[in-house]
Amino acid sequence: MALKRLDSIRPVRWDDGALVMVDQRLLPRQYHEHSYRDAGAVAQAITDMVVRGAPAIGIAAAFGVVLAARARYQQVGTGWRAAIEQDLTTLAASRPTAVNLFWALARMRRAVELITAGDPYPPLLAEAQRIHDEDIAANYTMGELGAALIDSPCAVMTHCNAGALATGGYGTALGVIRSGFQAGRIRQVYADETRPWLQGARLTAWELHRDGIPVALVCEGAGAHLMKQGDVKWLIVGSDRIAANGDVANKIGTYHAAIAARHHGVKVMVVAPTSTIDMTVAHGDAIPIERRGEDEVLSLAGQRVAADGVGAWNPVFDVTPAALVDAIVTEKGVVLRPDAGKMASLMGGR
Ligand code: MRU
Repeated sequence: MALKRLDSIRPVRWDDGALVMVDQRLLPRQYHEHSYRDAGAVAQAITDMVVRGAPAIGIAAAFGVVLAARARYQQVGTGWRAAIEQDLTTLAASRPTAVNLFWALARMRRAVELITAGDPYPPLLAEAQRIHDEDIAANYTMGELGAALIDSPCAVMTHCNAGALATGGYGTALGVIRSGFQAGRIRQVYADETRPWLQGARLTAWELHRDGIPVALVCEGAGAHLMKQGDVKWLIVGSDRIAANGDVANKIGTYHAAIAARHHGVKVMVVAPTSTIDMTVAHGDAIPIERRGEDEVLSLAGQRVAADGVGAWNPVFDVTPAALVDAIVTEKGVVLRPDAGKMASLMGGR
C-alpha cells in the first residue's frame, strides 16, 4: 500500500476573499496566521519575512496582485489596469534575490493582459491558485526525482528552510527529504541552524520533527566536522535563483557548506522548480544579493549579544558555483553537473 505523503503544512492559502499566511517569525513557539486584504500589506509581509522562501514569496505576491486588482476595480472601475501598476512596483520591491517573485509577477501580468473586460478578480484569482497548485505538484515530482538519486540509506544535511513553509507546500529540498525518508533512502537529517535568522533551527527542525523524520540540529560551524565523520552522503538545499550557467544563489552559508561537501566527497543536490531558474542572468555574480539589517547579526531573539558600538555585515544569500553542484533537480528533470549547455537544454532554449 502506498504511504500517505507527509504533506500537512500550507504557509500561504486563500480563504474567504483574503490571503492567509502563517507568521514564520513566530515559529516554532507560536503558530499564528494573519489575513491580508491589501497588496501593500502583502509586500510589507514579504519584506518583514512573515512569509519567506523563494516559491512561497512568489505565490504570496501572485495573491497580492489579486488583492490589488480587486481593490482598484472597486475604486476606479475600468481604470484598474493602470492603477495596479503601482501595486506591482511595490510588490516587486519587497525582496530582491528570489527570482520566483518576479516570475510570479510576470505571470500575473500576462493574465492581466488577457482580460478584455469585466471584473478582473475571478480570472486573476484562478491564475494565482494555478501558480500555487503547480508549485505543490512540482515539489511532489522533484521529491521523487531527488530521492531516486540517493542510492543507499544514509544521512543527509540541509541548510536554511527549503520546506513546506518556503513553498506552496511539501518543499523543495525538504520534499526530497520527505520522499527519501518514506522510500527508506534517508535515515537521518542534520539541519544546520542557519544564522542569523535561524531558519534551520526554527523552521526546518520543526517541520521534520512534526513529520517524524529524525532530525538533529547542528551549529553552522559544525558542518565540515560532521561531513568528515562519513555518514552524510548528500547536502540537499533549495535555491532563490539559479543562473543560466547553473550557479546557485541560496541562503548565506550554502557556499561554505558546498565547499566543505566537495572536500569530504559529500554530493550537493539543489532542488528548485524551473520558476527559480533565471536564464537572463548569465552567471551567479550578476544575481542581486540582499543585505539585511545589522541587528539580525548583532542580536538573538530580540536581545543584543554583541558589544555596543560593534557593527555587522549581513548579506543574506551567497552563490555556489555550478562546479560545486552535483545535481540540480527540477520538475522538468535532473541536471547532473550543471553547465550553461545543460541548463539551456532543460529550459528549452528559454
Ligand atoms: O531569506 P529566506 O528565508 O527567504 O531564504 C530562503 C532560502 O534561502 C531558501 O533556501 C530558498 O528560498 C529555497 S526555498 C524552497
